[in-house]
Amino acid sequence: MRLKIHALALAVVASFGAVATVIAAGDEPYREHYPQARIDPAQGVNGDIGFSDTLPYWRNEEEVERNAKWVGDPNEQWKLNWKFMDLDRIDLHPGHLAVDEGEAMVAKFAKRSPAFVSCLAEGGAKLDGLAAAYPKHDAALGRIVTVESRIEHCAKTVLNEDIRQGTPPNNKIAVYFKSLSAGTPIRVNIGDGKVMEAYRRGEKLFYAKTGQLNFACASCHVPGSIMGHKLRGETPTTPFADAAHYPTYRTPVGALESIQERFARCLGQMRTAQIKPGDPAFVDLEVFMTVLSNGYPVSVPSAR
Ligand code: HEC
Repeated sequence: MRLKIHALALAVVASFGAVATVIAAGDEPYREHYPQARIDPAQGVNGDIGFSDTLPYWRNEEEVERNAKWVGDPNEQWKLNWKFMDLDRIDLHPGHLAVDEGEAMVAKFAKRSPAFVSCLAEGGAKLDGLAAAYPKHDAALGRIVTVESRIEHCAKTVLNEDIRQGTPPNNKIAVYFKSLSAGTPIRVNIGDGKVMEAYRRGEKLFYAKTGQLNFACASCHVPGSIMGHKLRGETPTTPFADAAHYPTYRTPVGALESIQERFARCLGQMRTAQIKPGDPAFVDLEVFMTVLSNGYPVSVPSAR
């Protein structure tokens, strides 16, 4: 068995230490793959047509309202892709309070150093609408930047503060930053070659089987897989438009969760060793999944 050296493979190696000895740099990886679905990145969220075909039920509030009768019906509810949770009819949840907390944090930091906001806004003065274009390739930094990694970077360089992604303070600022794009259609720039390279890497990871169960993300999130069927009380849904509502307030645990923390939770279900938010493999997966949300409005704050 030969393994390519990248994060998910390393996670496998970590769980089966013995195979580490057979790694040879430059080897073609041996990985099983879940059969690849046909997804055209240029279609954005509309790529769900011909994929799960559930988009017509949740594409906008009117459709979600029309199909709200499915809420609570285990066989039908998954078709709403949880979007009914984003409607105003959900009571004020702590995700709204987290936005306020994030706003207060940014105001406090901006008072200390106005450069914090201009760093977040890449030289501008306002954050409005900007988050809808993330993840993006930042030429100056030479890497793909997510909202969460932008916050971590600006906190470090401007404030000398450690506001690491995957931590509550980072999530609060992120949900505030994203709330300033709420309702704005997501527009990850697939015309940027670096973004598309990340997309293709993320796509590959999505189908690559890993972990003790030899599952791929696709084993649960692609039609014909477990998708739409109950799994230990939960029903995996289409990956289209998921990125729109992150960071989300997780009611069961009472805290915000970034999309990369959610990936980590799914990896846990796959029984791999864990990788951390900010890992290049997670960044690539976030690019892949956010391109599948292109055209769908940013939907924070949300609760799941
Ligand atoms: C063993 C099955 C399984 C595997 C494998 C799996 N997931 Fe999940 N995933 C779930 C379930 C169940 C949920 C909760 C229901 C839902 O919203 O889909 C979920 C939820 C999610 C969500 C949140 C959806 C939302 O509406 O908030 C994302 C994002 C996600 N998975 C991504 C991934 C990625 C990326 C991988 C691969 C690293 C992966 N999943 C692997 C079962 C799985």
